[in-house]
Amino acid sequence: MRQAGRYMAEYRALRAKHSLLELCRTPELSLEVTMQPLRALEVDAAILFADILLPLEPMGAPFSFEKGEGPVIHQPVRTRAQVDALRVVDPHEGLGYVLDAVRLIRRELDGKTPLIGFAGAPFTLASYLIEGGRSQHYALTKKMMYGEPETWHVLMQVLSETTARYLVAQVEAGAQALQLFDSWIGQLSPHDYAHYVLPHVQKILRAAEATGVPVIHFGTGTATLLGLQKQAGGTVMGVDWRCSFAHAQAQVGDQIALQGNLDPILLLGPRALLLSRAQAVLDDARGLPGHIFNLGHGILPETPVENVQALAAFVHSASERA
Ligand code: CP3
Repeated sequence: MRQAGRYMAEYRALRAKHSLLELCRTPELSLEVTMQPLRALEVDAAILFADILLPLEPMGAPFSFEKGEGPVIHQPVRTRAQVDALRVVDPHEGLGYVLDAVRLIRRELDGKTPLIGFAGAPFTLASYLIEGGRSQHYALTKKMMYGEPETWHVLMQVLSETTARYLVAQVEAGAQALQLFDSWIGQLSPHDYAHYVLPHVQKILRAAEATGVPVIHFGTGTATLLGLQKQAGGTVMGVDWRCSFAHAQAQVGDQIALQGNLDPILLLGPRALLLSRAQAVLDDARGLPGHIFNLGHGILPETPVENVQALAAFVHSASERA
């Protein structure tokens, strides 16, 4: 959950010299940022340093990150003609720099730590494409979904095809697990998820799972969607702090591991509460068929790095005692 990022001084130092997109597009810099949290924290896996939005540019929708605003899509995609103009990306052509980074990172990790690759899921990517950036109500996204379902499904198809190929290519380059980020999917009702999104995510996850690596299906605000998300696929389901593991397991059954679900705001302190809540996550996870301790969502930039260090060390020592 953004284990690399602005909460780390080493990351901020690199960002003073390079834009976020430069870091992502230069394999040596992506390698360096991927390694930063491994040096600072007791984490069990490396996560490829990239961004879920990278495929949008070779699809035909360039964007930039603007200070204070987050991602800005230069020409938001809102019409059928714009959707028809988007291309399915061959990852070896349009995203070769990410695959080069994966190969460099694997060589550097030298079998010691597994590498997780990732991509954005189609609803979450579509929300940026259509809204042009962050959104509060996802009104333009839903307006297309409800008002022009055919255009919507064509958009979902081009995003899904691109994402499936991209994930498979990451495994071929050396990624040892995959995570599909459907960060904003909690905006949809179960009916709308089933109708407008599920078949597309299912196609991606089938392709990802066929590579043989574990696939983490991540979302936030998904307590009412987990049963449907399970139908879509994944070997691990991500849940956030709004959903107990007991509730999640009742939705997904006992053939699937859970990832989560500490509220990242607890990392702001106080320390004793952070660690007792981490213990509560571990207690809740007891008896699950599998559990990956994680935050429910991304680390905020204002997070003290010492708290992240203390959390990672605590989870290791608590897991060893259990
Ligand atoms: O260690 C890691 O996990 C880092 C790799 C990573 C980044 N983005 C780098 C990044 C990952 C896994 C992502 C995924 C991502 N990107 C998601 C899904 C995960 C989630 O949090 O739900 C989403 C929705 C995005 C799109 C995106 N990228 C947003 C909304 C922002 C925030 C912009 C802002 O101004 O806060 C980004 C920027 C971004 N991507 C940063 C990092 C480290 C921080 C920006 C910076 O360095 O200036």
